[in-house]
Amino acid sequence: MCPSLDENYWLGRYQRNQIGWDAGEATIPLKQYLDQLHDYEVEILIPGAGNAHEVAYAFQKGFQHVHALDIANAPLKRFQQRYPLFPSANLHHENFFDHRGQYDLVLEQTFFCALHPNLRNDYVKKMAQLLKPEGRLVGVLFDILFERDGPPFGGDKEMYVNLFTKELDVLKMEPCYNSIKPRAGSELFFVAKRPAKPQ
Ligand SMILES: C[S@@+](CC[C@H](N)C(=O)[O-])C[C@H]1O[C@@H](n2cnc3c(N)ncnc32)[C@H](O)[C@@H]1O
Repeated sequence: MCPSLDENYWLGRYQRNQIGWDAGEATIPLKQYLDQLHDYEVEILIPGAGNAHEVAYAFQKGFQHVHALDIANAPLKRFQQRYPLFPSANLHHENFFDHRGQYDLVLEQTFFCALHPNLRNDYVKKMAQLLKPEGRLVGVLFDILFERDGPPFGGDKEMYVNLFTKELDVLKMEPCYNSIKPRAGSELFFVAKRPAKPQ
């Protein structure tokens, strides 16, 4: 049976160091996406950030408004110790679905796959609320169906496109050419945009 994927579940995973998802540094697809941005004033959110390697990468690159959010406090606390200059107000110990804010860019890195599939419609609705008009949700999604009961939960391109187009314009959803080695051939890179406000 699928475990209850609440705060205690995730805290337990961090306490037992069962964090096989953690790449140990920002992943290449997200690094390279950030590398080609030139506006360092954009508001960026990384939900389900965990040890927040992408947050650190963006912050160290000079992005001024980077926010990390996680339901588990332990990795956020450790992040604050490692990066004392990172603004504590931008570390959100919160359930993603309760978060309020408006962002130009939300980065997806093994957060979607951590949520139970029955939350997928809510994820997309919430993303549409958190993005400013024309804001973008960018990142990687697993392109595999895992044969197990707990996270990660996978999917495929058709499933994701059908889901995301309920609220967002999917600009790109394609095999990821620059995945980290262990995920090579099993990820999609995607860019989805919240439509502009109707005229
Ligand atoms: C698979 S881990 C990925 C962590 C990080 N993105 C990485 O790649 O190392 C999923 C993360 O999402 C967090 N999480 C799960 N459900 C959440 C929710 N409803 N709201 C906020 N964070 C959540 C977990 O605590 C965990 O840190």
